[in-house]
Amino acid sequence: MEKQISIAIDGPAAAGKSTVAKIIAETLSYIYVDTGAMYRALTYQAQKNQVDLQNEEELLHLLNETVIDLKPSESGQVVILNGQNVTSEIRSAEVTNSVSIVAKHRAVREEMVARQQGLAKDGGVVMDGRDIGTHVLPHAEVKIFLLASVDERAQRRHDENIKKGFESNLERLKEEIARRDKLDSEREVAPLKKAEDAIEIDTTSLSIEGVVEKILSITKERIG
Ligand code: CDP
Ligand code: CDP
Repeated sequence: MEKQISIAIDGPAAAGKSTVAKIIAETLSYIYVDTGAMYRALTYQAQKNQVDLQNEEELLHLLNETVIDLKPSESGQVVILNGQNVTSEIRSAEVTNSVSIVAKHRAVREEMVARQQGLAKDGGVVMDGRDIGTHVLPHAEVKIFLLASVDERAQRRHDENIKKGFESNLERLKEEIARRDKLDSEREVAPLKKAEDAIEIDTTSLSIEGVVEKILSITKERIG
């Protein structure tokens, strides 16, 4: 049997991480872990319980009594929070625009990273996020850093919204993405950053298939 390795995919919002990570996991029969969904789930739970998002201690307390399960499904992955399916709720604008505040706290990140490392302990995993190559899986055999211009990323989210029949404002999306990029890359703890040994792929003018092909060929080389 081929060696079961770990693949870390990082990058800013809407660079295509989860789309390509899901396809790669499926192709290799690996598990897929969307770490952003875990921070989103905690943000959703904190908002529901009216926890102050600046209060690190209260957030950690809430996280310690929150079970977040990521289950594979036909559509990719469902997110179960204390037994409740919150897959679509965690994608709301309310959660999206506050998640980076929750994700900046050291204690929250330490607990999340421990859970994520537990999920990846047997290898055979594709994990996407912001700090996977730098902190969660520093020894991952394959590290990818996906990039695309802010204009292209906002356009992708806009197209996605229109396709789903949601209201969408391209200029607002651009501002929100740029704001989240700034918060994620300027925070003190585990900021969004390319790992030194990660391979950067600019996806601005690449198709999803093009990105998947590149990552699979890098992976095949490593599995060797
Ligand atoms: O899908 P999108 O790129 O919009 O975001 P996401 O991957 O769902 O992540 C949501 C937010 O969670 C990010 O903007 C970060 O603030 C935080 N996050 C993080 O800090 N570390 C990770 N490993 C994953 C996400
Ligand atoms: O996970 P992340 O926030 O990095 O991005 P995503 O949700 O996987 O992808 C954002 C959108 O860009 C999706 O609608 C994809 O279909 C689209 N897209 C892409 O992911 N990669 C490309 N090369 C082109 C488009």
